[in-house]
Amino acid sequence: MSELAGLRLAGRISVVTGAARGIGYACAEALAQAGSDVALCDLDAGTAAAAAAKLAQETGVRAHGYAIDVTVPAAIRAGIERIVADFGAIDHLVNNAGVQFVAPIAEFPEADWDRVRGVDLDSVFYLTKAVWPHLAARGRGRIVNIASVHGLVASSFKAAYIASKHGVVGFTKATALEGAAAGITANAICPGAVYTELIAGQARDLATSYGGGISDEDALKRAFLEKMPTGRFIDPAEVGALCAYLCSDLARSITGTAIPIDGGWSAQ
Ligand SMILES: NC(=O)c1ccc[n+]([C@@H]2O[C@H](COP(=O)([O-])OP(=O)(O)OC[C@H]3O[C@@H](n4cnc5c(N)ncnc54)[C@H](O)[C@@H]3O)[C@@H](O)[C@H]2O)c1
Repeated sequence: MSELAGLRLAGRISVVTGAARGIGYACAEALAQAGSDVALCDLDAGTAAAAAAKLAQETGVRAHGYAIDVTVPAAIRAGIERIVADFGAIDHLVNNAGVQFVAPIAEFPEADWDRVRGVDLDSVFYLTKAVWPHLAARGRGRIVNIASVHGLVASSFKAAYIASKHGVVGFTKATALEGAAAGITANAICPGAVYTELIAGQARDLATSYGGGISDEDALKRAFLEKMPTGRFIDPAEVGALCAYLCSDLARSITGTAIPIDGGWSAQ
């Protein structure tokens, strides 16, 4: 049995966006190991369904996959209604879906600014709004927003992501204030570098933005490993465990926070 079982989330229903892989899947997995049923949402129905089937087989919880593009409010509303119809309620929302785009500000395409802001910030508002009445109806709810260390500090060449993630931290505080009377907590998790496809996909553009002449591997070292005193990538399961803890009753007094899990990056 997982050590997370002590968090006692049996009977609870969690919605996780961008859940087919990476940190989103790790959050879904940790919530399931703590006993929660999980709705795994992602862009593609087949991928989300496959991730849900894997999770159900691994942990024995109820898990279903849903195709929800988090940039489309109508799709979100319809998806949330389907989840409530399938599971009967919603207790936890994990806003995890996110994208990155790397370029200097002077060359940053407007369309990519809009796209990053849409997925990384606007979606958090859309999902929170759609899920709110369901959490309020339970008299207890948990919202966990996967922000980033880049919601607390900046790095070069990631302006849209950094502006969006700082926005998520601010939105989390506003959510916490409005949620308190309804028993809803809201917290942001701020990971440093977790080795997923999101990180691997940046290597070439980072090397170019640094002026070229360095390998992809050295670009990743410079952008990530040298920023973390611990000098190692963070395991997605570490983020998942923090997410499951924040959804538990043990964390009922923790709200409005932005918690770094960043190997010391933001302490410098
Ligand atoms: N990997 C890191 O080092 C790191 C660090 C800090 C914060 N984060 C944040 O963690 C979250 C997850 O990142 P990851 O590293 O697991 O990335 P990832 O690229 O491995 O996974 C992201 C998932 O989100 C989904 N997604 C993308 N756009 C979507 C949309 N419009 N609608 C629905 N789903 C969509 C993708 O299909 C994918 O399954 C992101 O918000 C990211 O900003 C990651």
